[in-house]
Amino acid sequence: MKTSVTVQAHANIALIKYWGKRDENLFLPTKRSLSITLAPLTTVTTISLCSKAHTIFFNGILKPKSQITTFLDRLKTWLKLDDYFCINTGNTFPTAAGLASSASGYAALVFGLNELYQLGLSTQQLSLYARQGSGSACRSVFGGFALWNKGILADGSDSVSQQLFDQHHWAELRVLVAIVSHEEKNISSRQGMMRAITTSPSYWQWVEESEQKIPLMIQAIHEKDFETVGWLAEHDCLGMHHTMHTSKPSFTLWTNETNKLMSCVYGLRNKGIACFFTIDAGPNVKILCLAHDVPCIKKELATLGCVKELIECAPGGGPRFVD
Ligand code: PMV
Repeated sequence: MKTSVTVQAHANIALIKYWGKRDENLFLPTKRSLSITLAPLTTVTTISLCSKAHTIFFNGILKPKSQITTFLDRLKTWLKLDDYFCINTGNTFPTAAGLASSASGYAALVFGLNELYQLGLSTQQLSLYARQGSGSACRSVFGGFALWNKGILADGSDSVSQQLFDQHHWAELRVLVAIVSHEEKNISSRQGMMRAITTSPSYWQWVEESEQKIPLMIQAIHEKDFETVGWLAEHDCLGMHHTMHTSKPSFTLWTNETNKLMSCVYGLRNKGIACFFTIDAGPNVKILCLAHDVPCIKKELATLGCVKELIECAPGGGPRFVD
């Protein structure tokens, strides 16, 4: 057995969103979701054995007992491991501002432990464990396009992701991540989801419509039909955020800058440039487009004066070793 491994995993962006759990403890979703794994948004994690207790360093800073510690204890039980771990982890992108840092983080952790102990877990098993760290993490164990199945079993063993297409399927696809804020969001995804499910009158209608979009989205990705992919993704994202706006008390994760970017995308489309937005649990906006339109979109975004950082992403691969 090795004593230390360093691995990396990419974040993912959902084209059809996960927003709501039917089982809080097992992280079982109310519906399916579909995502693209994004390079170069990466978490790099080194896992080494530790003698007494888990220690977690995030970007070199020692973290007090955290969700990661609890997750490691659960993994120890599931995988029958006796050791404690020293985790050194960091992201190449802002954390907790709707950029799925927990997805890449938990995917890297599970992948890394599998490598450290040479457990030989299948990607489906990695997905199953990663899901219980953060739901969206179960999609980051695959490169390319992943579908997270809702599953029907009470123990959640069939609620795992599968790869639909690998990262080479549609190499021209781009996601421009426009960062307008580096701040952590003011409500956690878990709390936001719970409030939407329990209080928003539009929640179950969104779930139904979102489910209906899944086969259409798969077909459109298969055919590389960008307009359909973009339209479905944007509409699904608006439906998800509507459940927040209609919650009691209502809340929004958008800021003035988010609205500015959404208007900018509408404006670009009016000028005939094919681009669409999607937004997760934070104010930052992800713009879907094709490679040849990137320079023109970047130029327009630069005129807004509110984009702090722009990261050009493309479909990325699954988790892997780092030398
Ligand atoms: O995995 P969590 O608990 O961070 O939830 C992520 C939820 C969204 O990013 C808003 C949507 C998604 O499907 O990734």
